[in-house]
Amino acid sequence: MSELYVSTHPLVQHKLALLRDEKTDCRKFRELVREISTLLIYEATRDLRTEPVTVKTPLAETTGYKLAERVGLVPILRAGLGMVEGAWQMMPGAEVWHIGLSRDEKTLRPVEYYSRLPVSPTVDVCLILDPMLATGGSAVATVSILKRWGARRIKFVGIIGARPGVERMQREHPDVPIYLAALDEELNEHGFIVPGLGDAGDRMFGTG
Ligand code: PRP
Repeated sequence: MSELYVSTHPLVQHKLALLRDEKTDCRKFRELVREISTLLIYEATRDLRTEPVTVKTPLAETTGYKLAERVGLVPILRAGLGMVEGAWQMMPGAEVWHIGLSRDEKTLRPVEYYSRLPVSPTVDVCLILDPMLATGGSAVATVSILKRWGARRIKFVGIIGARPGVERMQREHPDVPIYLAALDEELNEHGFIVPGLGDAGDRMFGTG
């Protein structure tokens, strides 16, 4: 079973309550997604390798550390786009590759409509970004796409995960750690996370 990290940080919890609130407007919603993403990325990158570098301060030379691994951000369109800025705030040099999946409303299966990956992997770690992990279909499919393409280390960073979808991811891709701000218990008959926050893509882009 893959590692599951659910944040209990007060700042994450505070922002998540605002994000869930149906009265939160598009602009505020985007801001909260960005901020929560930054806080979760901080945890998801905890084990990145560093290497020593010599730094000259105004007073003396000392040893500092710089990231020794290249990170790729893989937002799942559309809603994953909202998490990119938050991740970039921490790692402005991260490459971004987009994967377009939309969930068929009847079957709830993901349909791939866009993929923009270089010929072979150019990074050491891929961070998949998608605020919602519901049935897990989109996350599982994205990991499979990245593995077929040759990615070795993959992590999933979401905001809300539903227990059934999280368990599916853990079964199908036990090597992919999952980072969330909340784990909700249920999906309704339409595959929406309950209590969740509604449709993240629609709330972010004002298309509800
Ligand atoms: C939502 C969400 C995830 C997916 C989660 O996207 O952002 O990508 O559904 O559901 P799953 O775990 O059951 O696959 P959607 O397909 O609605 O597309 P959108 O982001 O363009 O709104």
